Amino acid sequence: MEQLRASIRTVPDFPKPGIQFRDITTLLADPAALSTSVSLLADHVRASGADAVAGMEARGFIFGAAVAIRAGLGFVPIRKPGKLPVETVGVEYDLEYGTDRLELDPSGLRDGMRVALVDDLIATGGTALAAAKLVQQCSCEVSTAAFVIDLPDLGGADRLRGSGIDVKTLVSFE
Ligand code: PRP
Ligand code: HPA
Repeated sequence: MEQLRASIRTVPDFPKPGIQFRDITTLLADPAALSTSVSLLADHVRASGADAVAGMEARGFIFGAAVAIRAGLGFVPIRKPGKLPVETVGVEYDLEYGTDRLELDPSGLRDGMRVALVDDLIATGGTALAAAKLVQQCSCEVSTAAFVIDLPDLGGADRLRGSGIDVKTLVSFE
């Protein structure tokens, strides 16, 4: 886990002064750290009894798709608005730095499926809670929400757990 933590770069004052940005670009370029993070998340996703993995655009696509392949599951992209060419379900959410909207094409899901959410990082939890709402709107259940990085000071993991969602994170940055 120390190897994983060491592979994540901290960039001061991005995207604005005072923010210590935890950057996964360096983790992605490190074969051992990439493989370890994907395996650990996939083990947890499998153990959660997931039938599918959903990942949030954009960094959640990288880890989500890799975890889905490793866990032997399909992948459902949760997208930023206006990208999907069919009718979607959508939800507005709060970001650490503003507001946005997420959309999902439900055709890859069936009623009652257990869906694991995967993303690179949880901060306020706004993105993950919105993704969980989308999954629930599709009559599916969130089996777990799994992230490489937790920023516990921003409270997202606690918010998710408070909503009854199982949360797994690999490294924390206070
Ligand atoms: C980042 C990160 C998570 C989200 C976490 O994505 O990848 O999805 O923010 O923040 P939250 O817990 O406060 O919601 P971002 O929206 O920056 O998009 P990107 O993946 O396209 O860079
Ligand atoms: N790093 C990367 N993505 C983020 C962060 C961060 O510190 N906070 C919110 N999204």
